[in-house]
Amino acid sequence: MSKITLDLFRFDPAVDEEPRRERVDIDFPDTSTVLDALEYAKAEVDGSISFRRSCRSAICGSCSMNINGVTGLACKTPIREVMRADNSVKIDPMPNFEPMKDMVVHMDPFWDKYARLKPYLQPADKDEDHERERRVSPEDMKKLVAVANCVMCATCYALCPVVSVDPSFAGPAAIAYAYRFIEDTRDSKQQERIAQISDDYLWLCAHCYACSYCPKHVDPHDRIIDTKRRSIAVGQTDAPGPRHALVVAKTIKQTGMLAENEVIAGTIGRFNFRGLLKVMPLGLRMASKGKIPPLFMHPVQKVEEIRTIFESMEVPVA
Ligand code: SF4
Ligand code: SF4
Ligand code: FES
Repeated sequence: MSKITLDLFRFDPAVDEEPRRERVDIDFPDTSTVLDALEYAKAEVDGSISFRRSCRSAICGSCSMNINGVTGLACKTPIREVMRADNSVKIDPMPNFEPMKDMVVHMDPFWDKYARLKPYLQPADKDEDHERERRVSPEDMKKLVAVANCVMCATCYALCPVVSVDPSFAGPAAIAYAYRFIEDTRDSKQQERIAQISDDYLWLCAHCYACSYCPKHVDPHDRIIDTKRRSIAVGQTDAPGPRHALVVAKTIKQTGMLAENEVIAGTIGRFNFRGLLKVMPLGLRMASKGKIPPLFMHPVQKVEEIRTIFESMEVPVA
């Protein structure tokens, strides 16, 4: 047994005007999980402590919360791994969500983005046209298995800095799930699905890798890259996001460096005079500070090595 202090976020909108903190002391084995400790505190100390949970086995996705500043599943987090020097553990609701009561949050924005995907198969033909179920080859299935493990815990969504500044961004889980249907050979709506997830700001992802901390190893960030690549492969390139990706790759492959003038023109669109006029004041301010990038760039030494990397990674280029 160890003396453990749970430093809890408490908020009940029925009685509290502002969130407050409460420290709850328990005698509990530090070999247990954070969820076990919360369950004990609720059963033995204060029955009003609120949090979501169900399976206790990292399957249902209910118990994601912020533990010492890092969001993760409470049922998968051993207490002794997160206990601070004073034997306390700080527990808060997931960030990027509005608290409902204590560690329980309003999940609606997360579910709304998921529902927009139409997260079910939409085959071109009818079930009755098939004698048996529709088959997927093991090779094609391999692409979908990791995403199918997603338990919709929203840990990745809570960790995403882009969601925190722009709540209209679909977020990592929704994009990963879009990928799961885009790559499913039984589905017939690939173009529509790519268009929909692009409308939900697929290209806003800043590739910070924060969502790589996924308790089910879905690696949503890698699926975001796959989805972007797929959208370019099927020709959905007439938007600032894909144009930016393609022109950045092109200039680096050509010279080994980022040709910023070309990137700006390529992203906005060379004949988009209104868009180019909009960035003109920024360009003039940069020029007045001597920060205008060179108009022509010579390839760096060993640029061939850079080109070989691009080719080996099959990076799409404008
Ligand atoms: S991708 Fe991972 S972190 Fe995100 S909702 Fe699914 S299981 Fe949770
Ligand atoms: S990699 Fe993209 S989706 Fe993932 S946390 Fe960073 S910005 Fe968000
Ligand atoms: S209780 Fe189900 S994932 Fe933690």
